[in-house]
Amino acid sequence: MINFILPLFGRFHPILVHLPIGFLVFGAILIFWAGKKYGAYAPVIQLAFLVGGFSALLASMSGFLHYQNEGYSWDTVKFHLILGILTTLLSFGMWYHLKKSVLSPIPLKLQSAGLLFFLTVTGHLGGNITHGDDYFTEVLPPGLQAFLGGNTGNGEPLELPADNWEEVEFYAGAIKPILDRNCKSCHNPKKLKGELDLSSFKGIQKGGEDGMILKAENAEESPLLIRMLLPEDHEDHMPPRDKRQPRKEEIELIKAWIESGASEKVKLGESAINESLIEPFFKKRERPFYPIAELPKLAQDFISKLREQGFFAEAVKKDSPLLKISCVNFQAFSDSDWHMLQSAKDHIVYLDLTGTAITDILLEQIAILPNLTVLKLNKTSIEGSSLEKLTENKSLKLLYINNTKVPLDKLTPLDGHPTLEKVFAFETPAADSASSPQFSFHLEAGSLSLPPLASDTIVY
Ligand code: HEC
Repeated sequence: MINFILPLFGRFHPILVHLPIGFLVFGAILIFWAGKKYGAYAPVIQLAFLVGGFSALLASMSGFLHYQNEGYSWDTVKFHLILGILTTLLSFGMWYHLKKSVLSPIPLKLQSAGLLFFLTVTGHLGGNITHGDDYFTEVLPPGLQAFLGGNTGNGEPLELPADNWEEVEFYAGAIKPILDRNCKSCHNPKKLKGELDLSSFKGIQKGGEDGMILKAENAEESPLLIRMLLPEDHEDHMPPRDKRQPRKEEIELIKAWIESGASEKVKLGESAINESLIEPFFKKRERPFYPIAELPKLAQDFISKLREQGFFAEAVKKDSPLLKISCVNFQAFSDSDWHMLQSAKDHIVYLDLTGTAITDILLEQIAILPNLTVLKLNKTSIEGSSLEKLTENKSLKLLYINNTKVPLDKLTPLDGHPTLEKVFAFETPAADSASSPQFSFHLEAGSLSLPPLASDTIVY
């Protein structure tokens, strides 16, 4: 019948702790205040420490019961509990000391300062248990938090590179930053709210106190997502209502990740994700990879016709007028077929002619594509005699001439090209040239030589 007494008393702990704080601080203030007139204040000071001691005892007892009844782990409370008991003993010690002998002021001040120190540390540790150890730092500016070594939860908002987002790992590069920023402050190995650690892939897989939080490839039934989609005033909504909420786009991305199988290693480009889900995260100031061109969109008919003719043709992204053309399935494409592409010349930004039957002569046509940014001429019979024509392409950034007969000197006219960043020339005479001059662009020629291993020279 009276089973509730002890837990109830335990729950008074957060209230009772304020009594020793009041009395002991008051006692210490009197000691400093009294100075040489200590004698006049002695009875009050003694009383302050006596009552302080008793209230500290009550606080310790209720604290212990609180710990026993509310499921705190020993690791969480141990220092707080031990220091609380020490503070109690020191208070009685002070009182006993003061009663027995009149101390000289200096040691007395030192002792009371020491007691205040124990009291402060005990109180602080107690506060950490109820409010979390980021209670104070949480409201500081992020820079200052990082400086103080705190900041477990607040990462930077997610940003993805516009030109090679495909290469970013879905979990490590996109999902983890979102969870770190919005969930980690409560769901990490030290602070396992709901027994759930969202700061690592393992933790996510393990789930929380109610079991798994991911349902393979079924986002709508995965508690991880369900919790975020609940109305904000629902008590199960995550993150809790008064905390920073993830953006709608971030939740969409988490959903897409679960639907793609919630794998740890898959890359964004491999996950069949729609680019429109990625775009909101592109860095704002970053220059787009392809030129910004005010062009009318090509008629869908025209694109369909290109496909019928054998080209791979698609817009670089949804609603963009810019076009990617590839001849992977049109290896017979030759110089005389150029007319098929002629009317899209302003729109083509990516042209892959790998393996086709083109010759150097075609470069004169290619030179007039004003927005061409990526040009692939791998495995063609070009020898480079017209490569200098490409100086007319004012947007060209990447040129691929792997597996061709282009020698190094044919690349020289491209030196100083204002936009050209890289030329890929594996398996070419250019790559084999002993001396490689410094061009304004980066020449990827694959002249990699591995250091010999000791085992290479072993004769069996
Ligand atoms: C301010 C602290 C806090 C933040 C931030 C927070 N949570 Fe929680 N979370 C809790 C608490 C407390 C519980 C346990 C109570 C409950 O189940 O509602 C919990 C439980 C959960 C559970 C259920 C675990 C289980 O198995 O019972 C999921 C799933 C969850 N959170 C997801 C998230 C996600 C996702 C985020 C970030 C978008 C997040 N939480 C952010 C405090 C937080």
